[in-house]
Amino acid sequence: MANIQIRKYRDEDSEAVRDTFTMGMSEHVPSTFMHMLKQPPSQMVLMCIFCALITSSKSFLLPILAVTLVLAGARQLVVYVFNKYIDSSLSNDLKNISETYLKQKDSCFWVAEVDGVVVATVACLPAENAPACLELKRMSVRRTYRRMGIAKTLCRTVVEFTRERGFAAVLLFTSVVATDAQKLYEGHGLQEDTRVCYS
Ligand SMILES: CC(C)(COP(=O)(O)OP(=O)(O)OC[C@H]1O[C@@H](n2cnc3c(N)ncnc32)[C@H](O)[C@@H]1OP(=O)(O)O)[C@@H](O)C(=O)NCCC(=O)NCCS
Repeated sequence: MANIQIRKYRDEDSEAVRDTFTMGMSEHVPSTFMHMLKQPPSQMVLMCIFCALITSSKSFLLPILAVTLVLAGARQLVVYVFNKYIDSSLSNDLKNISETYLKQKDSCFWVAEVDGVVVATVACLPAENAPACLELKRMSVRRTYRRMGIAKTLCRTVVEFTRERGFAAVLLFTSVVATDAQKLYEGHGLQEDTRVCYS
């Protein structure tokens, strides 16, 4: 049984935290791309391109090439959007974690250590537009340390912190493609797609 320890962030964790966040976010690229492809409007556009080119060129080669190029372009676009989000997070709240999360009494940043190595992160801070809530953020567990209950423990840590500070609820945002995260939050009594909690 691994020795898992949850503790507050320290400045020397910065690199491990930024890596854990970047890897966790990047792994949503393929599922986001597949999700996009499954949407009827995307399929309609691809079909229209295919049909228009096959009618005008009377050949299969051109439409197949064109659809392949559109797909490659769409995937690059997803990569670009994710990279942009990752870069902006790394240069905003994750640039100086102590400053962003540890200076105010109603926010915090924790890491999970296994045998002295930082393998997971979570944070919370007052939710914008919901003064009675804290928002759970930056939940990420390194791949090789998943399904060991680390995220569950981190969730509990945030919920306890929220209760101790007298807030009514934990607010969180997740995406349709983050299916592992949805299962985690549902299993924890947190309702799908965004809000709610523990009361
Ligand atoms: C989502 C994530 C944080 C889960 O971390 P984890 O440490 O593996 O989660 P836990 O081991 O604590 O699992 C808790 C529960 O979540 C559910 N769960 C987690 N991963 C799952 C999976 N791959 N399949 C099915 N259920 C899963 C299960 O109900 C699990 O309880 P159980 O093991 O008793 O069945 C992790 O997969 C991750 O970091 N993903 C990438 C980053 C991300 O998506 N972050 C969330 C952004 S909102």
